[in-house]
Amino acid sequence: MAKTKTTYFCQSCGTQHNKWVGKCTSCNEWNTLVEEVVRKETKNDRLQLFSGNKDPKQSNKPELLQEIGLQDYPRIPVPGKELARVLGGGIVPGSIVLFGGEPGIGKSTLMLQLALRLKNLKVLYVSGEESEQQIKMRAERIGVTTNSCFILQETNTQNIFQQIEVLQPQLVVIDSIQTIHTSYIESSPGSVSQVRECAAEFLRFAKETNTPVFMIGHITKEGSLAGPKVLEHMVDTVLQFEGDTNHIYRLLRATKNRFGSTNEMGIYEMSGDGLREVTNPSEILITQREYATSGVAIAATMEGNRPMLIETQALVSSAAYSVPQRSSTGFDLRRLSMLLAVLEKRCGFRLAVKDVFINIAGGIKVEDPGIDLALVCGILSSNEDLPIPQNVCFAAEVGLTGEIRPVNRIEQRISEAQKLGFEKIFISSFNKKGLDLKSFSIEIITVNKIEEVFNKLFG
Ligand code: TYD
Ligand code: MG
Repeated sequence: MAKTKTTYFCQSCGTQHNKWVGKCTSCNEWNTLVEEVVRKETKNDRLQLFSGNKDPKQSNKPELLQEIGLQDYPRIPVPGKELARVLGGGIVPGSIVLFGGEPGIGKSTLMLQLALRLKNLKVLYVSGEESEQQIKMRAERIGVTTNSCFILQETNTQNIFQQIEVLQPQLVVIDSIQTIHTSYIESSPGSVSQVRECAAEFLRFAKETNTPVFMIGHITKEGSLAGPKVLEHMVDTVLQFEGDTNHIYRLLRATKNRFGSTNEMGIYEMSGDGLREVTNPSEILITQREYATSGVAIAATMEGNRPMLIETQALVSSAAYSVPQRSSTGFDLRRLSMLLAVLEKRCGFRLAVKDVFINIAGGIKVEDPGIDLALVCGILSSNEDLPIPQNVCFAAEVGLTGEIRPVNRIEQRISEAQKLGFEKIFISSFNKKGLDLKSFSIEIITVNKIEEVFNKLFG
């Protein structure tokens, strides 16, 4: 019987401490240390993990980079363009993907959908959260039939690896890593050391057998993946599923991707029969109105390589209390304060005594600074109660001096606006360089200052 031992783990960064301290010396977070029991394992324990294990003495030999063939392991094509794009073109064999999101956002649904749609691939879906019947019910809802998807209700990694050895699946989904435990460590499932150890076991399995593994992970209240940051370092790809559970749209982003770009985004719509892909986001995100409404402005933004037109809404009203309120959905509140300060100080609009509310339609979060000008115009439009014509859109960043700054990929933004039938687009004068204005039928208005935009819009 090996000796039991307790140590303290920081729940935020995963650092191990020998005794309890109030503040983690590694990440400086307060009150994050939790006592966990760990058993000191002997070296032999680990080798029996799964018999697919190579003999450690037989280590890999260096290979010439030129001689390493890529064709041996082509990417597994993913059904569905959105996930494929976020993953960077398909599933890389032997890769390990961490898939995070808030409870109820649709992680299990998306993974089961993937498992069901990969028709000629043997998939093992390991669930530690739901029973086989519950998963069956979900599969019925999704309505895709396949005869290559196996469900395993199990939480112990040793048992899972035993089953994997029998079944030899080509893809493994773990739902969720927080419910899985390994017998080599005595702390409870979901604790830092358990999560880290289980993830490490799956990582080893993925790399040695070249089987891709998807691990679902829960998210803490602060919005980071539960369990230590180490988990994010270990895996190849970190996917985040976000969106408002009150809205039907869900955004899939890669926050880390060793095999692709992290700029890409996938959009899904939660419907009665699973998650549906949204291939024409712009058309859905812009409300078709019969007449123009003040406070509404359309921004031509970029999400990764995909241009997207998004409706921004602003409401400016006299402050009901002495401290004016600022509230924003889908846009960084600090950036909103900055934009308001620019309008106040540089352009002389009296907004300090006004309540300002901002909303990005569809419950989408936007990080592209190209949305600035649309927001500013929406705020001014609501403040003056003058609607912006419906055929106008904006693509520019606003700087601290009130200057209109250029944004990247302007041609793509303009083309998308043109495609959707907009007739005018406001961009920064600095974006004009190298741009062939004549090649577009949409009217391109270049501006330098906010006042200029204001005059051109409202005359
Ligand atoms: P789920 O995948 O269980 O979320 P997670 O695994 O991230 O916790 O999805 C839960 C929500 O999705 C639930 O509130 C119901 C909804 N849903 C639908 O609206 N339609 C469907 O077809 C399915 C399967 C779920
Ligand atoms: Mg789930």
